[in-house]
Amino acid sequence: MTDFDELAEGWDADPRRTERARRAADAIAGAVPLRDSMRVLEYGAGTGLLGIALAGRVGELVMLDSSAGMIDVARTRIAESGLSNTTAEVGDLTEHPWQGEPFDLVVSLMALHHVPNVCLLLRRLSEATRPGGWIAVLDLEPEGGEYHDPDFEGHHGFSRGTLRRAFAAAGYAHVTVRNALTTDREVDGIQRSFGVFLATAQRETPPRPDPC
Ligand SMILES: C[S@@+](CC[C@H](N)C(=O)[O-])C[C@H]1O[C@@H](n2cnc3c(N)ncnc32)[C@H](O)[C@@H]1O
Repeated sequence: MTDFDELAEGWDADPRRTERARRAADAIAGAVPLRDSMRVLEYGAGTGLLGIALAGRVGELVMLDSSAGMIDVARTRIAESGLSNTTAEVGDLTEHPWQGEPFDLVVSLMALHHVPNVCLLLRRLSEATRPGGWIAVLDLEPEGGEYHDPDFEGHHGFSRGTLRRAFAAAGYAHVTVRNALTTDREVDGIQRSFGVFLATAQRETPPRPDPC
């Protein structure tokens, strides 16, 4: 699997990642009614590029990521940005459920395809969300495996049917999936664009018992 601790220091050096996060934040703001009272979780936050772009539009923001290296950088970025409503923690909800206060909104950018058990993660995110609260996930549209190295063990994007079924099984209603943006990467010396969807849903019903 990708060693994100190793990538953390250099993660923000690629300006395309900051621009991608800025566009993702705008896409979320166009799809979810953001309020300055909202408590928000950014899952798989990395260095917090998305959260930093959203933090001024919500009440409180918690960044969570399984990589301690990424979270170290995220804490530096939070301090540099002077954000008093944002914190960052190391954590993996597929290992341990969320124990803190629930959230009004969960956001995530380009993290889902790295998580083996997506069904379990969505259920844990649903459990960490207030009934009626929102989730907004941006990740890869189905791709042919070119986005990562050939030995990548994660998901090669997600079809809309897979997303709809997984969100519904995790206890979300009003699922919508739309094209949101593209992300560029060099493949065999050629610049390629990969589609990124935005999936939104609201936690309406309790999760089904053990859908995974
Ligand atoms: C491709 S990076 C995206 C980082 C950031 N969202 C961005 O757009 O710049 C994927 C992130 O997901 C995190 N991640 C992977 N598996 C995870 C898991 N099971 N729980 C929490 N974070 C995870 C990685 O540590 C990494 O920071």
